[in-house]
Amino acid sequence: MNTSYSKSLIAYFSRKGNNYVNGRIVNLPVGNTEIVAQKIKNLTGGDLFEIKTSYSYPLDYYEATEVAKTELENNLRPELVNNVKNMEEYDLIVLGYPIWWDTFPMAVFNFLESYDFSAKTIAPFCTHEGSGAGRSVQDIQKLYPQAIVLPCLTIRGSMANNSETAIKSWLTKLQLIK
Ligand SMILES: Cc1cc2nc3c(=O)[nH]c(=O)nc-3n(C[C@H](O)[C@H](O)[C@H](O)COP(=O)(O)O)c2cc1C
Repeated sequence: MNTSYSKSLIAYFSRKGNNYVNGRIVNLPVGNTEIVAQKIKNLTGGDLFEIKTSYSYPLDYYEATEVAKTELENNLRPELVNNVKNMEEYDLIVLGYPIWWDTFPMAVFNFLESYDFSAKTIAPFCTHEGSGAGRSVQDIQKLYPQAIVLPCLTIRGSMANNSETAIKSWLTKLQLIK
C-alpha cells in the first residue's frame, strides 16, 4: 500500500447464486465482486469487510432483479447486519459492488450513509454484465461531494477470475500499490 494512505478498508457487497453471465444463467458459489475484492486484498493488504444484509437476496437471478428493482424504485435501505467499528482509522475506502439497475445495490447506499466519508478517499470498483459503472460513481459523489472519488475499476463479471492484470494496473495507476 502506498504510504500516502495510512490505512485502507476494502468494503464490498456481493451476491452468491444464479447470475446472468455471457448470455446464460450460471450458479456462482462466490460472487464476482467478492472474487475481485479478495484479489485487491491480496495485492494491497487492506482490511476486508463484507457488507451483509439481514435479508438474503433470491438465488434465482430474475427474482433477484425484481427484488432489487423494487428496492431501487422505493428508495429502500435493506437492513445491514454488520458494521465497521473503527471507520475513523481508515483514510482510503476501496468500495466494491455489482452494478444493479445501473448503480450499486441499495445495501451499499445504506453502508455509505451509515458513516461519514466526507474526508475520505473512495476508490470504487464494480463488476457488471455490460453496463460498466453505470451512474454509480456519480451516486457516490452525490452522497459525498467533498470526498475524493478516484476512477472506478470496472470488471465484467465473467472476467472476475482473470482480473489480476486489470486490478494491478488500476492499483498502480492510482498509486495504491508500487
Ligand atoms: C439485481 C441485478 C441487477 C443487475 N443489473 C445490471 C445492470 O444494470 N447492468 C449490468 O451490466 N449488469 C447488471 N447485473 C449483472 C451484475 O452486475 C453482474 O453479474 C455482477 O458481476 C454480479 O456481481 P456479484 O456476483 O458480486 O453479485 C445485475 C445483476 C443483478 C443480480
